[in-house]
Amino acid sequence: MSRPLLDVRDLRVSFPVRRAGAMPWTPPQDLHAVGGVDFTLKPGETLGIVGESGSGKSTLARALIGLVPATGRAEWVDGADLVDLSPRQMMKYRADIQMVFQDPLASLNPRMNVGQIIAEPLTTHRPGLSRSEVKARVKEMMERVGLLPNQINRYPHEFSGGQCQRIGIARALIVAPKLIICDEPVSALDVSIQAQVINLLIRLQKDLGLALIFIAHDLSVVKHISDRVLVMYLGKVMEIAPKDALFNASQHPYTQALLSAVPIPDPAREADKAVVPLTGDLPSPMNPPSGCVFRTRCPRAQALCAEAVPPLEGTDRRTACHFPGPLTEAEIAAARTEPA
Ligand SMILES: Nc1ncnc2c1ncn2[C@@H]1O[C@H](COP(=O)(O)OP(=O)(O)OP(=O)(O)O)[C@@H](O)[C@H]1O
Ligand SMILES: [Mg+2]
Repeated sequence: MSRPLLDVRDLRVSFPVRRAGAMPWTPPQDLHAVGGVDFTLKPGETLGIVGESGSGKSTLARALIGLVPATGRAEWVDGADLVDLSPRQMMKYRADIQMVFQDPLASLNPRMNVGQIIAEPLTTHRPGLSRSEVKARVKEMMERVGLLPNQINRYPHEFSGGQCQRIGIARALIVAPKLIICDEPVSALDVSIQAQVINLLIRLQKDLGLALIFIAHDLSVVKHISDRVLVMYLGKVMEIAPKDALFNASQHPYTQALLSAVPIPDPAREADKAVVPLTGDLPSPMNPPSGCVFRTRCPRAQALCAEAVPPLEGTDRRTACHFPGPLTEAEIAAARTEPA
């Protein structure tokens, strides 16, 4: 088996925060945003990451590029541990790992023109290039992402949201990275534009052999773009599996609850489907439940779930659940009648 591009083991990120109303002399408490995440990513692969708001998806992404301090390991293909690099060492890897953010306009510097924005990583990481070489590469990249090269001197506010996201993608691609982390790259765009940007990412990924980590709320988008999908809940991995295995035969009750909330385009099947209720709010990451963090909302939770943390088990598909498997109709019906 080929060496993974990225091998993440027990990655953790905590933020020291003060509880609202706490006295100034009380020490801050740890908020466990990412609580021990494991996954691998192959070269050229797309890993989708899903989970409710606050489950730690963005923090995980930020930790991988050194924007927030983390513990554990994130081994890059050359053996370097991304978690352990100094900011100076990280600079070298930032050419290999680029990020595309959610809000296209806000993530572009309004005082720079498109040419300067796209060129910025290139001038940082390849300082030896001449100005004309940089300009030629910027224009080539603009064409690749579907922008008109003659718009090189325009400013971000002169572009639509979808075009701004294309600028963000061009900027990420210009240094020929091996991995692009996209954090909700299309959530701020109109649905019709979303598809164009997603299809652009898929095409670029195939042409350039890029690996993608694709974070999104929208499960249908994740299904479209991903090879494998990782499901996060309260900072932990609940399940990670090849796309079809996850969408057709999920083993984790949380994944099943997330999937059952996705509308089916066929009205007859939509009316018939069993909806797994996901009641209550996400517990506080400052005080996560003991054992399995999902147990307080799980229709199948039993005493063991409060006592022991379920390990992430399996090879091709991995599930962190003491009682994995599809929920039965009886379990779903019981969860719908009992308040969780
Ligand atoms: N800089 C920070 N300081 C304190 N807490 C933080 C910080 N950044 C994130 N958090 C907390 O960490 C947890 C995970 O946040 P994160 O933004 O990673 O979630 P997410 O899955 O990306 O959510 P969303 O889907 O809304 O983008 C949340 O409880 C959040 O409030
Ligand atoms: Mg986020």
